[in-house]
Amino acid sequence: MSERKTPQGVLVRKVHFEFPEDFQPCWHPDKPIFSHLANGASLFLPYMEPFIIHSVREAIKQIEDPELLEEARAWMAQEAHHFKQHRRFNEALIACGYPELREREEAIERGYNDLRKRSLKYKMAYTAGFEVMALSIAHTLLEDREYFFKDADPSTASLWMWHLIEEIEHKNLAFDVYQHLFGGHLYRAYGILSALMHMVGMIRPTYIALLKKDGVWGRWKTRWAIKKVVFRLFVSFLPRTILYALPGHHPSKVKDPEFMREWVALYDQGEEGLLRLDTRDPRQTPAGMLPAS
Ligand SMILES: [Fe+2]
Ligand SMILES: [Fe+2]
Repeated sequence: MSERKTPQGVLVRKVHFEFPEDFQPCWHPDKPIFSHLANGASLFLPYMEPFIIHSVREAIKQIEDPELLEEARAWMAQEAHHFKQHRRFNEALIACGYPELREREEAIERGYNDLRKRSLKYKMAYTAGFEVMALSIAHTLLEDREYFFKDADPSTASLWMWHLIEEIEHKNLAFDVYQHLFGGHLYRAYGILSALMHMVGMIRPTYIALLKKDGVWGRWKTRWAIKKVVFRLFVSFLPRTILYALPGHHPSKVKDPEFMREWVALYDQGEEGLLRLDTRDPRQTPAGMLPAS
C-alpha cells in the first residue's frame, strides 16, 4: 500500500475511527432523518465499494500505462479503506438495536453479486458513474457542512468528511480507466443514471427499515423531513451531476474546495484531530474545527 502521494496527489491514509460506547444512531441530534439517510448509505458501502474495486481490478488487467496503473492501485487502496471504516461504523449502528439490518446487508450483497456477472464495460460505466455522484455529493456536503454536520457526533462527521475528501482527491481515476478502455460518452452517461437508480434501490429500503424500527416511518412529519433533506441535497447534487455527465467533461476540471485542500495540508502535517473534528461551528475551515486537545 502506498505511503506516498501518487503523481495526481492521491495518498492512502490508514486512518482509524473510534465510535463511543454511547454511540447514537441518530448522530446528528437535530436531523434524525438525515442521520438515517446517511446510515443507509453507510450500510451499502461495504458492498458497493468492493464491487467497484473488483471492476477496476478486472479493467487494469488490460492496461499497460504505468502511471494509470499507479493511480489505480492507490484508488483501490483508498476505496478499500473507506469500506473497512464504514463497516466499523455499521457494526456500531447495528449494535444499537437494529439486527434487521443484517437482512439488508444480505440483500445488498446479493445485488452486487449479480452485478459482478455483467460485462466489464457496464461495470466500469457503473463505477465511473458512481464516482461522478461521489464527487458531486462530496462537494454538496462539504459546501453545506453547517447544515449537514453542525453539532453532529465528531467521529461520524469526521468519518464522512475524510471519505468525501478522498472521493474528491481520486476523482479522475474511474473516468480515466473507462475512457482508456472504452472511450465515448453516451454509455458513460448511461452508467451514471444506472448507478443512481441502483444506489437508490439499495439505500432506500435500509433507511425505511431504520425509520420503521424507530416507529416514525409513515408519519407526515417524517415524510416532510425526508422531502426537505432530499430537496436540499438534490438542488446542488443534480445540477453538478448533469454537468459532469456532459460530453467533454473531465473530473480534473472540477476545482477542489478550499476546505479539502486545507484538510489535506493539515493531514500532511500529522494532525490527528482531523479524526474527531469539533462540529460546533462547521462554517470554520478544518483548522478552526480541530478539537481543543
Ligand atoms: Fe469511497
Ligand atoms: Fe471513490
